Amino acid sequence: MVQHLLIAVDGSSSSHHAANQGFGLARQTGAKVTLAYVLESPPVIPVGPLSGYVMTSPPRTDADLERARAELKSLANEAQGVTVETRVELGIPADVICELAERLSVDVIVVGARGLTPGTRWLMGSVSDRVVHHAPCPVLVVRERKK
Ligand SMILES: Nc1ncnc2c1ncn2[C@@H]1O[C@H](COP(=O)(O)OP(=O)(O)O)[C@@H](O)[C@H]1O
Ligand SMILES: [Mg+2]
Repeated sequence: MVQHLLIAVDGSSSSHHAANQGFGLARQTGAKVTLAYVLESPPVIPVGPLSGYVMTSPPRTDADLERARAELKSLANEAQGVTVETRVELGIPADVICELAERLSVDVIVVGARGLTPGTRWLMGSVSDRVVHHAPCPVLVVRERKK
């Protein structure tokens, strides 16, 4: 039985499409939805034995957090008739998605096949690929139909 879906979004049109497919599934099954956006924490790399650490990209700002919250809010507004809880998490996206699925005992994870990285050479992006490999439950990977 599908009672709880975890839909992971990153602001891309692919994840927007996946979210709408997930909402449709939730309507059909009566499942509730957790809609999650992971702000990627920059990897921290040690440099030398005594010299400390460097971050490879800038840390997330309050503006990033606000953008993520606004994205979740506007998506949740499209989920008429579905109970939706939104959350913004910080960390490595695929790992956070899998941990969240485990912690919340969700029945299905929904992701887009692709995300924000341009290019169409690969069927799946690295986040959806990693989620499929490490998820504790079934994963619905949604591809956008070619027009
Ligand atoms: N930071 C993130 N937070 C939540 N979900 C994400 C995140 N990044 C990617 N995803 C999910 O994984 C899907 C595929 O994205 P990704 O694997 O990153 O592809 P790409 O390499 O094209 O960016 C997205 O449509 C979204 O559902
Ligand atoms: Mg991506």
